[in-house]
Amino acid sequence: MEFKKSASLHGELSVPGDKSISHRAVMLGALARGTTRITNFLQGADCLSTISCFQQMGIEIENNEQELLVYGKGLYGLSKPEEILDVGNSGTTTRLLSGILAGQSFPSEITGDSSIQKRPMKRIMVPLTMMGANISSIKGNGCAPLSIGGRRGEALKAVDYVSPVASAQVKSCILLAGLYADGLTSVTEPALSRNHTERMLTHFGAKVHILGNKAAVEPEPSMEARDILVPGDISSAAYFIAAALLIPGSEILLKNVGTNPTRDGMLRVCKAMGADITCLNENCDSGEPTADLLIRYSPLKATVIQGELIPALIDEIPILAVLAAFAEGTTVIRDAAELKVKESDRIQTVTENLLQMGAKVTPTEDGMIIEGGNPLHGSQIDSHMDHRIAMSFAVAGLAAEGTTRILDADCVSISYPEFYQDLAALQQ
Ligand code: S3P
Repeated sequence: MEFKKSASLHGELSVPGDKSISHRAVMLGALARGTTRITNFLQGADCLSTISCFQQMGIEIENNEQELLVYGKGLYGLSKPEEILDVGNSGTTTRLLSGILAGQSFPSEITGDSSIQKRPMKRIMVPLTMMGANISSIKGNGCAPLSIGGRRGEALKAVDYVSPVASAQVKSCILLAGLYADGLTSVTEPALSRNHTERMLTHFGAKVHILGNKAAVEPEPSMEARDILVPGDISSAAYFIAAALLIPGSEILLKNVGTNPTRDGMLRVCKAMGADITCLNENCDSGEPTADLLIRYSPLKATVIQGELIPALIDEIPILAVLAAFAEGTTVIRDAAELKVKESDRIQTVTENLLQMGAKVTPTEDGMIIEGGNPLHGSQIDSHMDHRIAMSFAVAGLAAEGTTRILDADCVSISYPEFYQDLAALQQ
């Protein structure tokens, strides 16, 4: 797919539903009793993987595009899958589902694509093993495929786990396993990661206790089906925010974007860089904060992105790095070593592609240093089959001189199947 320097962007757009929330809605809907109706569910490949895993475990799910009906059967209503569960490219499915499977009476196995088979799973195997689960990496390399033994009537052991990483996937895995434990299970993380699991467990009637960076869940809740309205995904909105900020004369309105404070780091950083972003119609109708975002072209200046802010923008670092390449001054990104274990090693893939386009970037152990303000030129970009790399560099291509060609551009279907059409609509 090719991109050229773009004229200004204008118009309104509703980005698709939030990926993290869509996964959790299917999972908790399956574990609740009754019919959960999910509106604005993300029809991306990752979330479809979650649906198919639960269908394989006997959960009926009706997918009518804009609305998903999950016929939940309660905490103990899942049945043994006939085959190995395939999560595709989805780390969220792998880690959250492992927590649920650890509590089941039947044994199971999980696998995924070549990227998933390289991502670290010890981070969930260690705490699940502490809880008494029998989980192992089938190839012995700490990655999927994973084998999870069935429980013989006994509950998991409740733990107070102190996680070395700020990861919502790790936290959620343990909290979901905690539903099947013999007491209160808690997770403390070094910085607060996205809290959608905690919010949604509460929405379904589970008892969750929060104290700073510590979340605890009471076991054996009786969860009832609930309606869920999924807000627009701020991680998808990020590409249009960036495009509007970079292209002179742009003004766009992004409707109904999730602005949960554990996810809104991109907005905070952009504002610190001088971005003109206004939040309108703020509300919390869906149990998650949302707003319409009005974004106007703005000249940007460099910033430092570090510390507790990192988990609140972890998926937006590739597009923030693109913004930094166009900003005046030197941007430093640190404390973000987690980037190395995403769908691709994003320190490497972002650096390599920015260098291709003529930016001045130095990769570091836990981030990168970007000297902004040097004009970028179009180039051939390897997405490494990473959806966020493809979308970030499509935006870079709209602001660079010449033509940018993205390889394996279709990988955007993981989180945003209509991305290129929606981008084109704002260019009309
Ligand atoms: C996610 C958490 C983040 C994020 C991923 C989705 C989630 O991963 O990068 O895209 O839905 O919980 P980590 O929790 O591993 O940082």
